[in-house]
Amino acid sequence: MLFFAASAVTAQSKTDSAATALVAKMSLEEKVNLVVGMGMNIPGVNLGNGSGTGVGQIMDKVPGAAGTTYALPQLGLPGTVVADGPAGLRISPAREGDKNTYYATAWPVATLLASTWDTKLVQQVGAAMGNEVKEYGVDVLLGPGMNIHRNPLGGRNFEYYSEDPLVSGKMAAAMVNGIQSNGVGTSIKHFAANNEEKNRNTINVIMSERALREIYLKGFEIAVKESKPWTVMSSYNKLNGTYTSEEYDLLTTILRKEWGFKGIVMTDWFGGRDAVAQMKAGNDLLMPGTGNQKKAITEAVKAGTLDVKILDENAMRIVKYILGTQAYKKYAFSNKPDLKAHAVIARKAAADGMVLLQNKDNALPLTAAKNIAVFGITSYDFVSGGTGSGDVNEEYTISLVQGLSNAGFKLDEKLTSAYQQYVSAEKAKQPKKNFFEEFMNPTPRVTEMPLEGSVITNKATEADVALITIGRNAGEGSDRKVENDFNLKAEEVSLIENVSNAFHAQHKKVIVIINAGGVIEVASWRDKVDAVLMAWQPGLEAGNAVADVLSGRVNPSGRLATTFPVKYDDDVTVKNFPGKEFPEKAEAGMMGMKAIPAEVTYEEGIYVGYRYYNSFNVKPAYEFGYGLSYTDFTFSNIKLASADFKNRMFVVVTVTNTGKTAGRQVVQLYLSAPGKIQKPTEELKGFSKTVMLQPGQKQVVTFVITAADLASFNTASSAWVADAGKYEVKIGASSTDIKQTASFNLAADIITQQCNKVLAPQETINELQHQ
Ligand code: BGC
Repeated sequence: MLFFAASAVTAQSKTDSAATALVAKMSLEEKVNLVVGMGMNIPGVNLGNGSGTGVGQIMDKVPGAAGTTYALPQLGLPGTVVADGPAGLRISPAREGDKNTYYATAWPVATLLASTWDTKLVQQVGAAMGNEVKEYGVDVLLGPGMNIHRNPLGGRNFEYYSEDPLVSGKMAAAMVNGIQSNGVGTSIKHFAANNEEKNRNTINVIMSERALREIYLKGFEIAVKESKPWTVMSSYNKLNGTYTSEEYDLLTTILRKEWGFKGIVMTDWFGGRDAVAQMKAGNDLLMPGTGNQKKAITEAVKAGTLDVKILDENAMRIVKYILGTQAYKKYAFSNKPDLKAHAVIARKAAADGMVLLQNKDNALPLTAAKNIAVFGITSYDFVSGGTGSGDVNEEYTISLVQGLSNAGFKLDEKLTSAYQQYVSAEKAKQPKKNFFEEFMNPTPRVTEMPLEGSVITNKATEADVALITIGRNAGEGSDRKVENDFNLKAEEVSLIENVSNAFHAQHKKVIVIINAGGVIEVASWRDKVDAVLMAWQPGLEAGNAVADVLSGRVNPSGRLATTFPVKYDDDVTVKNFPGKEFPEKAEAGMMGMKAIPAEVTYEEGIYVGYRYYNSFNVKPAYEFGYGLSYTDFTFSNIKLASADFKNRMFVVVTVTNTGKTAGRQVVQLYLSAPGKIQKPTEELKGFSKTVMLQPGQKQVVTFVITAADLASFNTASSAWVADAGKYEVKIGASSTDIKQTASFNLAADIITQQCNKVLAPQETINELQHQ
């Protein structure tokens, strides 16, 4: 062990001295070129950064990538390539004058992956995703995204894991460890508090230091400490008054000094305003880079308003990064990752993250049903993933009907062909748009196909069961809406009603599949149907994975990592989402858009997601941690190692599969903490997914609770403090379905981490209080 540690230190110091020597040789111009990116071909836009024109520049190495760093061949430093994004590598599938294709795997979206609660599986997905990054000649994947699901309408929620920072942090760490095991890098993003899309380039997010530390930074802290991402991407928004990319206390005091981050920070694309302030804050790389930024930095150094030592430090970190890349190592990438093998992993992950929300009278699995009537346009036009930079150019998406027929189900042919014709005719009418046009003005999904009542009655006679898919899509640039998006559309309500009435009259079941990147309203219609499966956006193997769960080939083991409220207005963040805007102060923004100043105050403080629903007794439609299985589990024999907390506490509990089918359970450990400051009634402090338990089989699950797990952020002392008193351990099958409890005592307060007093809000926040 010692030997390895010593050799790692030697390698690190070798890189450090090589980087120091290289930076010492650089002219001011070379340093400036290094900190300003080369990225992105935007049709008709000249960024003035010399994109594609510099000596030895490599803009065309990987078409469709999001950007590159500047090459300094005279110093032996190649350009490096960075590309999106969280659900798989986003590059152009076709290249001019080239017959080969460059497809990448569309993996299940992050919210689905988090719903697996299986960090090993997520790491395996990461390893395969990172292999595509490496084999297509890319150095850094711009992901994972790990902002918090603060509000159900967040347009990019699908790119993010959860409403809970522990789940987000653990999932992101697993993903980064998987991707980076290939020798390529990641960029955890968007650091921090980019939890909505509305006015994302101007919005000032105002929150307390406690909410920031406990909810919005915690996941990033876990990922930085447990997986050492090569890069962090700062976010677009302001945080308590300053752009995150210009905020020294965020990027240097907290990220580097408190957490020990050693990599580079890059801006989000065109993020922030002041290149010099960004340099001073420790935002090393400005992406995609503009000529104006180069000018501003050069002039500031010459005028003495930017100390060249700061620029040297930023350049040094970028050099160290470059020295670790595959581009520097001249890796001969194949352009031929094993997409077939990856599709197998994508299908398994997809099925493992689907959440069975309802299953009256064991309507699922569909073992007996042979003949299925499949309703809803989404069944024929399944959504593999969200839009914007989180999208992937995959070769195919298996639709639900394809997946069902691959699994051997018989489909009602007439209905299927009517739907297929309708969907392709409607899609043909939609205008063709490029990425930027689509970004600015997303094409709405095809409306539901009108169906005569007699057709539905007919199908109810002929078929054994009905499936209806409800589909949603969203992505970067705008948030979702309540009407016709979170809530069902009138046409969907009547489809569910008509199909259910007709099929139930014949004593036949109706199953609804939700194909969406985020939560939707379910409480008003779920009683009308028999089973509901949350399939999320499951990537390119979508239909096959849904069929795996419907047929029982896979026993669902996904659990919600985000709450389904009964109605949108039940959510505590609603009165502060998306916040206020000040159109009278609008200025000209990027690419002809208006920049409207805006602000949002997180008055709910730490009470986000289940922390709110549980503490304030608001019953959700489906709570955090919830999900059904085709089998049953019992929990027994909780034991704590001791009645008093010393340095850590071991907790064991036994899980038994008491049903008739093999399955996996997610064991969730919540803590209720005592204290001098108010705390949520339950907070997730650990989780563990069992192995595949055969009927009758047991597994003893062990958790270790550390002092840090007991601590909350105490604003008065700027420290994480574990307060003395009685702690209750709650082992649950969800955040409200607590199966076993035990308690221990902490004799005296422990300060687990002293922090700097930074990033305090400038205004008083009327924060939600819990008695
Ligand atoms: C997004 C980032 C993305 C970048 C590069 C931005 O618009 O917010 O998540 O990585 O573009 O495509």
